[in-house]
Amino acid sequence: MGLKACIFDLDGVIVDTAKYHYLAWKKLATMLNINFTEVDNERLKGVSRMASLDIILEIGSIVPDDKTKEEYAALKNKWYLDYINRMMPDEILPGSLEFISELKNAGIKVALGSASKNTPLILERLGIGKLFDAVADGNVVSKAKPDPEVFITAAKLLGVQPEDCVVFEDAVAGVEAALNAGMRCVGIGSEKILKDAHFVVSGLDKMSLRKLKVSAK
Ligand code: BG6
Ligand code: MG
Repeated sequence: MGLKACIFDLDGVIVDTAKYHYLAWKKLATMLNINFTEVDNERLKGVSRMASLDIILEIGSIVPDDKTKEEYAALKNKWYLDYINRMMPDEILPGSLEFISELKNAGIKVALGSASKNTPLILERLGIGKLFDAVADGNVVSKAKPDPEVFITAAKLLGVQPEDCVVFEDAVAGVEAALNAGMRCVGIGSEKILKDAHFVVSGLDKMSLRKLKVSAK
């Protein structure tokens, strides 16, 4: 196992959008009289928009037709975009830019691996589109995490083997996707929740190339 590339999830790792996804889903759940909690929300992290909606509808035991489901998903995305369009570069999570530039200075490639179809918009809002050597997002992959497709695609775009990649993920489904891709995974968040990650830190401000190398030994 080498260390040639780092692949970052976007929502909840590079930028604090996880709270906006939650608030927008909560608004939809309230509209539908579904009791949706922050604990339930953990199941949605890293999961695609339609799969997230399915989880919420399952909690509420509601079975709408496909057209109505599309309308609910569009409504949630509209509310989510209201938050995203007001987002500022200072919402980039602490330590992210510093850690990524440390990696790049050391010749390690960096990519983004996100389920979000809103990735291009978020990168543009934050002015960090050019930071990544490759971007694999919800617009180019069809299988949702925990399927490894998004990370395998990112590795292919970078021209590196999966065993030479480390993934940074805040979601249980994302950690599983990284492991399914045959990659090492650093969990961002709580050790209790991200039990399967090889190593967990509370945020990228607690990460460094030295720590990454030590954790791989
Ligand atoms: C993931 C988020 O990054 O993207 C999920 O963790 C979200 O919460 C998914 O549902 C899809 O995002 P979007 O922006 O395409 O609705
Ligand atoms: Mg995430």
